[in-house]
Amino acid sequence: MNDIQIVYTSKATANVDDAQLDNILKSAVRNNAARNITGMLLYAKGSFLQVLEGEVSVIEALLKQLEADTRHRDVEIIVRTSIKGHEFKNWSMGYRRLHDSDAKALLNYAPFFEDGFDASKFCEQPGLSLDILKALAAQLDQT
Ligand SMILES: Cc1cc2nc3c(=O)[nH]c(=O)nc-3n(C[C@H](O)[C@H](O)[C@H](O)COP(=O)(O)O)c2cc1C
Repeated sequence: MNDIQIVYTSKATANVDDAQLDNILKSAVRNNAARNITGMLLYAKGSFLQVLEGEVSVIEALLKQLEADTRHRDVEIIVRTSIKGHEFKNWSMGYRRLHDSDAKALLNYAPFFEDGFDASKFCEQPGLSLDILKALAAQLDQT
């Protein structure tokens, strides 16, 4: 197995409403389950943060598809690492939409999504993006 983990940020092209997010998520869950991809998607204030795990060629193909998706732009890869096992194995695509109140609850991380996700902040501390996604996945696992 030659698996990788990718984390990227992007900006939504328009204000994304719940119905649009629901569409994205439905195809993500369906396709990812069939392709043995796992991960977590976060949306806050016009920005996406997503982690994707899977076989390298499968992930590369998905990234090409994602980069061509006009619902978002400025796709910036923050993390790209080889992995032995999936860290988000419970989720074909876990999902959280963060509102201001949630941001306050995630005190340590609040500065990172005050105006959506700022890729440059994450690039300075790449581990941080994964920490946030893992913290949110842990919350989902408990519900
Ligand atoms: C922020 C964002 C995240 C996405 N994540 C995934 C994903 O994890 N897996 C996936 O198959 N498609 C994902 N998509 C959708 C793809 O870009 C593409 O629309 C979809 O894979 C097309 O497949 P379908 O024709 O089966 O719907 C995402 C789109 C956006 C905007």
